[in-house]
Parts: sequence; C-alpha cells; structure tokens
Amino acid sequence: MTSCPPRVVVVGGCGHVGLPLGIALASRGADVVLHDLSVSAAELVASGTLPFEEPGAQPLLDEALAAARLRTSTDPSVVADADVVVVVIGTPVDEHLNPDPASLPRALAACVPHLRDGQLVVLRSTVYPGVTALVEAVLHDAGLQVDVAFCPERIAEGRAMTELFSLPQIVSARSERVLARAEQLFALLTEQTVRLAPEEAELAKLFTNAWRYLKFAAVNQFYMIADSKGLDFARIQEALTRDYPRAADMPGSGYAAARACSRTRCSWPPSTTTTSSSATLRCSSTRACRCTC
Ligand SMILES: NC(=O)c1ccc[n+]([C@@H]2O[C@H](COP(=O)([O-])OP(=O)(O)OC[C@H]3O[C@@H](n4cnc5c(N)ncnc54)[C@H](O)[C@@H]3O)[C@@H](O)[C@H]2O)c1
Repeated sequence: MTSCPPRVVVVGGCGHVGLPLGIALASRGADVVLHDLSVSAAELVASGTLPFEEPGAQPLLDEALAAARLRTSTDPSVVADADVVVVVIGTPVDEHLNPDPASLPRALAACVPHLRDGQLVVLRSTVYPGVTALVEAVLHDAGLQVDVAFCPERIAEGRAMTELFSLPQIVSARSERVLARAEQLFALLTEQTVRLAPEEAELAKLFTNAWRYLKFAAVNQFYMIADSKGLDFARIQEALTRDYPRAADMPGSGYAAARACSRTRCSWPPSTTTTSSSATLRCSSTRACRCTC
C-alpha cells in the first residue's frame, strides 16, 4: 500500500458481501469506493439506505458517509485511483448450475483498462479452483504489473458486522511480499490471518461451504425420516442436543438451504409445508442447491 489511509475500491461493492466489507474498512479509516453495476443499489447506498438487512451496518454506513470515507460509483474507471481493488462480485452459474471459471475474469474486463501497475488486486468471491491463476494470467497478458491475492470471504449474512472483525482471515498469494500486502489490508479488520497458497485457499473456501451444506442436507434427511414416521423432529433434536457437546453443531432443518434456494431461484424440490412444529422444510438435498456463498 502506498498511502495511508488506503484507498480501496470494492468491485461488487453494493452486494451482500461487498457492502459490509466496504463499510467495515471505512469504519477503520480506509477511503472506500463501492463500485457496482447496479445503479439502483449504488444510489440507495449513497443515500444512506442499506439495500438489505445487515445488523450493525447502518450506524457505520451513516458515519462513513458523513465523514466522506465511503462513496459509490457505477463507473469501472474508479479502480484507477485505488491502492487496493477488492473483487467480490457474485459467483455466476450456467443454466445447468455449473460454475463458470471464466465469469470472474470476464466481469473484471471492464476494470482491466483502468488498473495500474503496483496495485493490489484482492479476489474475494467464492471461485472455481484455478480462477486466481486465470485472473493472474489475464492481468499479465494485459501488460499489468499488479499483485494478486485471493482472500475468501467467510462471513454469514446477518453476522457480517461482527464476523468481519473477529473471524481469522485466510490470505493467499504467490510471494511473501504480496502476502504481507494482503495482511496489511486485513489487519484493519482482524487480528488473525492464515496464510495459504491460492489453490489451497480456493479449496479451503469451497470445502467450508461443502461442509456446511453436508450438515444441512443430513439434518434435512433426519427431518424427513422423522416426519415419515409421524414424529416431530424438533422434539427429537432438542433432546439429542441438550447439554451434549458433540451434537452442538447440528443445524436446524430447513435452514440456509432455503435461503440459498431463494437467492438462486432453485426450483427443486418444490416447497413443502408440514404440520410439524419444526421449521418449514423447503429443501431436502444439496443436489439441486449447488449455489455457493
Ligand atoms: N452472501 C454471503 O453470505 C457470502 C458469504 C461468503 C462468500 N460469499 C461470496 O461472495 C461473493 C459475492 O456474494 P454476494 O452474496 O455479495 O452477491 P450479491 O449478488 O449480493 O452481490 C454481488 C454484487 O456484485 C455486483 N456486480 C456483479 N457483477 C459486477 C461487475 N462486473 N462489476 C461490478 N459489480 C458487479 C452486483 O450488482 C451485486 O451488487 C460470491 O462469490 C459469494 O459466493 C457470499
């Protein structure tokens, strides 16, 4: 980083991950521009309105706007003024729900002509393995001498404003110097960083998501087994988890997979409502829910 406070542009900055991150960085003194394709989201944020609920974000957004430490832009040329460009656009899937490794480099194309030698580009989206190397090649082919790091986001929506300041941050890059640069950025937010190679970090993030989905899918299966026998899964779950540490991480049924489905317009299986006192079960398998967060 060449200046203090760092000038950070967050590409995808008005989304569920980019906005809390931008607000958090601004609250720690960074000069932040949220670049987003969505004109309506950019206007909302600039007017001081969160486009979605994120507990704890509103007062920090208000402070950052009042202090002129945060602004929005739909113009990709804003990346030219940044020390650090953080890329946190969504993870698109094709019509078969397969991730497209080229989608992130494609989305970055509008920014590439405005990047400058010496900048740090931090990839933060959840990516298909190998995407960091692909982006490095694209930037290199464009004749740019920029540093690239992959530092995956691991917050859960609704907890961003605490988790950004408390979770260890995985940082990955190909050299000690770039690792140190990425760590310097995230030191604004959190005390602990964990170093990996980019390919390791890409898998670490995907394994994290897969592990969560496995747990949700298993509990949803338990729910259906209980339900098929006319039993109340919530009652069984309450009994098996009560004061029993080894089951403490068992999530509730229908949780999260339903959120993922609503975000990705997944239509399989159709929603079902039961008469059980458990939460409504909307999704019973990870097979169709291949969305990533
Ligand atoms: N939502 C979560 O809880 C969560 C947690 C961890 C990681 N992630 C990952 O973070 C990434 C972002 O997820 P999200 O939930 O914030 O998605 P989102 O859809 O809420 O936000 C993405 C934003 O990027 C903008 N955008 C898309 N293409 C762009 C482009 N070319 N230039 C500028 N802006 C562009 C969109 O308008 C949108 O505002 C994904 O890879 C996701 O898997 C999400």
